[in-house]
Amino acid sequence: MRLLLLLLLIGILLYCASFAKADTDPNDASALRVIYSSLNSPRQLSKWTANGGDPCGDSWTGITCSGNRVTEIKLSGLGLSGSMGYQLASLTAVTNFDISNNNLGNQIPYQLPPNVQRLNLAANGFNGNIPYSVSQMTSLQYLNVSHNQMQGQVIVSFDSLSSLNTLDFSSNAMTGDLPQSFKALTSMNEMYLQNNQFTGTIDVLANLPLDDLNVENNRFTGWVPDHLKEIVKSNGNSWSSGPAPPPPPGTPPASRPDRHHKSGGNNSPSDDGSSGDGGGKSGIGGGAIAGIVISVLVVGAIAAFFVIKKRSKRSSTDIEKLDNQPFAPLASQEVHELKTNQASSAPIVKEFEASAVVNLRPPPIERHKSFDEDDIAAKPIVPPKKVNTANIDARQYSIADLQMATDSFSVDNIIGEGSFGGVYRAQFDDGKVLAVKKINSSALRNPEDFLDIVSEISRLHHPNVTELVGYCSEHGQHLLVYEFHKNGALHDFLHLSDEESKPLTWNSRVKIALGTARALEYLHEVCSPSLVHKNIKSGNILLDAELNPHLSDSGLAGLIADADQALNHNTGSGYGAPEVAMSGQCTIKSDVYSFGVVMLELITGRKPFDSARTRSEQSLVRWATPQLHDIDALEKMVDPALEGLYPVKSLSRFADVIAVCVQPEPEFRPPMSEVVQSLVRLVQRANMSKRTFGVDQGSSRAETDGPDYDP
Ligand SMILES: *[C@@H]1O[C@H](CO)[C@@H](O)[C@H](O)[C@H]1NC(C)=O
Repeated sequence: MRLLLLLLLIGILLYCASFAKADTDPNDASALRVIYSSLNSPRQLSKWTANGGDPCGDSWTGITCSGNRVTEIKLSGLGLSGSMGYQLASLTAVTNFDISNNNLGNQIPYQLPPNVQRLNLAANGFNGNIPYSVSQMTSLQYLNVSHNQMQGQVIVSFDSLSSLNTLDFSSNAMTGDLPQSFKALTSMNEMYLQNNQFTGTIDVLANLPLDDLNVENNRFTGWVPDHLKEIVKSNGNSWSSGPAPPPPPGTPPASRPDRHHKSGGNNSPSDDGSSGDGGGKSGIGGGAIAGIVISVLVVGAIAAFFVIKKRSKRSSTDIEKLDNQPFAPLASQEVHELKTNQASSAPIVKEFEASAVVNLRPPPIERHKSFDEDDIAAKPIVPPKKVNTANIDARQYSIADLQMATDSFSVDNIIGEGSFGGVYRAQFDDGKVLAVKKINSSALRNPEDFLDIVSEISRLHHPNVTELVGYCSEHGQHLLVYEFHKNGALHDFLHLSDEESKPLTWNSRVKIALGTARALEYLHEVCSPSLVHKNIKSGNILLDAELNPHLSDSGLAGLIADADQALNHNTGSGYGAPEVAMSGQCTIKSDVYSFGVVMLELITGRKPFDSARTRSEQSLVRWATPQLHDIDALEKMVDPALEGLYPVKSLSRFADVIAVCVQPEPEFRPPMSEVVQSLVRLVQRANMSKRTFGVDQGSSRAETDGPDYDP
């Protein structure tokens, strides 16, 4: 009997030990669980579970491990459908990732295992473009995306993929010229580009060590480079007939009609030219070339003249740079600039101030220069085009009014550096305090549209959208006057608060999320035509005395040139949706994504991108989203400033909303009305449980600022 007990005990011990040693790396395991639930728990994946389980120890279907790390994921031909989720980037030990021959759809997952050598996504329903993350896969040797519905031009760079030896893009709907970065594919052996709609020449392939090349059934032109002729399959294109003509002697590269051609670098220049560009350019005679040269000289001279004239003018790239620093309350460069401007023109400003106090005459142009020399010098003063100002539901201010109220736009009155220019606190004679936004004229797409856009903004009325009070369009200046919000931007509140200031309570955070969601719902779904904000970030959410949120800059994106690029394309900000980085286009769904990032800021108290942190924690989305479904992990990442004062249920529901908003696939993100509903339910349940359980010490401490949101 004793012996039996002993054996039993030993058995139990061995059983437990076997569990302990097979434990899969927790990050790998949780990534696989997310894949499983994202795919809707398909039965084909035997042994897989969405909770618990041990992928390596339990031999999950398609998973190969080495030690406790997952090294291969082979899920080919299993009839999987749906999406892979968004956690693949944490699978850092995976070298072989094969999900080919399934029915996976939408875009290729934005994040993929970063160190793969073989990546096979072929024969699914993927559309869109090659994701940016591929350009970072320095170990990649084999890439197959054939037999999908990939569209558009290949825009990711292949510059770092020098190990890639097999590439298969065949049977998609890819367009545009081959990227110049193909030239960097120094190991490329087999390349399959057939059955797409590629255009231009195949010159970029001329120097690759190819053994096999198929470019059939595209729209290629030019010539097939000589030494590729033996290996290439090239039917079904519009090649130029006859031998490639030698280039005219001494032709400068700039005059070539092929705009994508750059010198290949291996051959002599004449070889390079003969390797195939320039169909039809043999018709350009000497006279034409002389003409081109003369035009180039004339255009160059004119351009140089303008460059010199405008040299003091800040370029739009500088503005973009300023926008890329959302964490500085003020761009110091801007302040410095203002200071120097003011210092150098101090006497004029003083003089003007004196005259403005005596009579409110608008300043003469000469003096006016002092307040923004750059803008005036750069832009001729055009009388604004006839707009029916009766359509504008806002007050018209004169420059003089605003100069007075802002103390000549003094540095002391700067309250923020918006995306379009400085924002100043303005105190008017009647005691009213407003915020004046001085639009950088150099950022304007089309100054004549200013009043049209003011008219549109003046029609936006929502309790959570910052209200336009007035505007000023005089002497080439463009200013907007908004209501002033005492507590400033959410960004500053979260990230720049000093020790003593009270941190935002959980209830305030929920209130801010809900109010902002309502503002966006209004812009997206109530306004007609609907309005994409394009610049959702905590710096654009202003808080009033009761910490109600007011979304600023609504409707302004239309004002500035290349708004999509300038605002959200700045991938460094941490707010931009992945597809915006690829297409440069902001949509309602990219607003939803940015809103999700703001919610992440609220829950963690962290900045969307923080270069001060370790690499794995720099990008808030990348770091936080894998942990949103795990309540223990979630509680660890909550803003420590909350000191644990939050209802756990509410926290996890909040996290659920975030997870759906920041999905990399735009079509899976919910409309804002749905987000509003989820947050309203969250608030209602929180209030209900409070009523049920009464004033219980533990849980009610979290509710210090009362149930002041109205669902
Ligand atoms: C890419 O995948 C497709 C579909 O599975 C397959 O037919 C093709 O041979 C693969 N290409 C290469 C180069 O392995």
